[in-house]
Amino acid sequence: MNKRTHTCGELNSKNIGSSASLNGWVNTIREHGQVIFVDIRDRYGKTQLVFNSDVNEAAFDTAKKLSIEDVISASGDVQARGEGAVNPNVATGEIEVMVNSVEILNETEALPFVITDRDSALEDFRLKYRYLELRTEELQRNLKIRHQAYQVARKYLSDNKFMEIETPVLMKSTPEGARDYLVPSRLHHGKFYALPQSPQTYKQLLMISGFDRYFQIVKCFRDEDLRADRQPEFTQIDIEMSFVDENDVMSLATGLTKALFKEVIDVDLPDTFPIMKYFEAMETYGTDKPDLRFEIPLQNFKDYSDASDFNAFKSSESVKCLVVENVADKYSRKVIDQLTDFAKHHGAKGLAWMKAETGALNGGISKFFADDLQKKIVSELSININDIIFIIGDAKEVVWQALGALRIEIAKREELIDQTLYKPLFIVDVPMFEWDEDEQRFSAMHHPFTSPKIEDLPKLKDNPSEVLSRGYDIVMNGYELGGGSIRIHQCDVQRQVFELLGISKEEAQQKFGFLLEAFKYGAPPHGGIAFGLDRLVMILAGTDNIRDVIAFPKTTSATSLMDDSPSEVSERQLDELGIQLKK
Ligand code: AMO
Repeated sequence: MNKRTHTCGELNSKNIGSSASLNGWVNTIREHGQVIFVDIRDRYGKTQLVFNSDVNEAAFDTAKKLSIEDVISASGDVQARGEGAVNPNVATGEIEVMVNSVEILNETEALPFVITDRDSALEDFRLKYRYLELRTEELQRNLKIRHQAYQVARKYLSDNKFMEIETPVLMKSTPEGARDYLVPSRLHHGKFYALPQSPQTYKQLLMISGFDRYFQIVKCFRDEDLRADRQPEFTQIDIEMSFVDENDVMSLATGLTKALFKEVIDVDLPDTFPIMKYFEAMETYGTDKPDLRFEIPLQNFKDYSDASDFNAFKSSESVKCLVVENVADKYSRKVIDQLTDFAKHHGAKGLAWMKAETGALNGGISKFFADDLQKKIVSELSININDIIFIIGDAKEVVWQALGALRIEIAKREELIDQTLYKPLFIVDVPMFEWDEDEQRFSAMHHPFTSPKIEDLPKLKDNPSEVLSRGYDIVMNGYELGGGSIRIHQCDVQRQVFELLGISKEEAQQKFGFLLEAFKYGAPPHGGIAFGLDRLVMILAGTDNIRDVIAFPKTTSATSLMDDSPSEVSERQLDELGIQLKK
């Protein structure tokens, strides 16, 4: 093999007249009689090779045998491309290499799918041959962005005095709200390690150890239902700081996010990100991760529906509407039925509507609204001719969920989302607890180590559902990019919160005795945040599929199709672990 003198993305007009050797994959082959053009590719780019039977017959004969994706080594002279053949869109577009020697380093078998076209095969099939799919330009680019994101994050945090410290992967389970992945112990039959859902307890302990500013780019494992932006194992940029309040952590998170967007994709984000209260986000956007790239807020409609003859909403806790501009003429019965099904799929019982085809309202439930009331609605909600109003009445959570989802669906349908925009914000004032109907107890909205707001501490006893937390989420374009909080650092408050979460004294002692004890020996006030690195890279790379930014992802049923995991293990392995499978 002639070792490469250059990569396939390197040669340009300055190299004309010199010789070069390139190693890489055959990307395309075009035969023109006695001349064959082959694009050779590696991760840096492509270079056009020319095989001319008049110049070198042996090389030409080998070229005739080449197949797409063969691995070759080619040497020859760099020359200018003929007039009209220059391609200004690629770095090597001005030159070509006239090959005088070529060697096939590895001949490929017939490929399972067309590598240059991801759409040529279903995703499951591509995942089986993930190492081939990773050759596509799109995934090569995404992984490069991911690599850059690691580097920028490490540099930014290190420059800001953060120390990178690794924490164990085999640990005691931490409750972050999901199910643990468990690892049986061979030496201690009947006992299990858990894979970290996050290094939450460790990073808090590191603060007690005096490490002041910690970070780690770390794998986390959660056995939960998967979605387009969730994987069973994912990566966090995990951060913890001592002697800080919310503003310090949010300001650090802002700086890091700004650095990432500037350095990886050259996008300038504002110096400060807007801060929105949780209930404002829910009432206005129906979600705690609002996409601010487009408007269409949820607006209150209860006063209007109560004043109307439309009775279905009279007993509803909340009635809200969306006003969609300038679409009434194209929203036929069929479209409205589709959107109704969509709303029902997201929990609503139905979807009421009215159009403004004239100055007044018509169609849908408009006949239940007297003329004066219609005028009031048109004026107060700034409704214009050809707008349509969609209305849902129900428990407030149902209204948020269904109208929030509809808001996004309509924005997608109407192409209202400017894909070049990046709209970060923080969500604060999140309640500490939510009531879990099934379990008949409170569960933590963040995690059990999140501090309540100091002024709400007295409410912990009598009115826990009203206690707000010192938590914050960083949100961008409809994704929760990260979340964190100022922590509880006093033993008694921590015990009180455990109690509210239905964790008994004994259980707390058994599960977190080490942490509670650590709080007794000089625990500094501390707080932190963890970014979902995969989600961050999704936004940087402009994809809405988390699998597009992970080299070897799992499917939505948590399997790896390439190496077929999870898989059975031998009787012997089970014996060693003292495990007997249930039939
Ligand atoms: P949290 O549970 O909010 O906080 O997680 C932080 C961020 O991690 C990302 N994330 C995920 N990404 C992909 N797949 C998943 N299954 C998944 N789950 C979470 C999200 C999320 O915002 N220890 C706390 C942080 C802290 O309090 O400092 C924690 O893990 O982007």
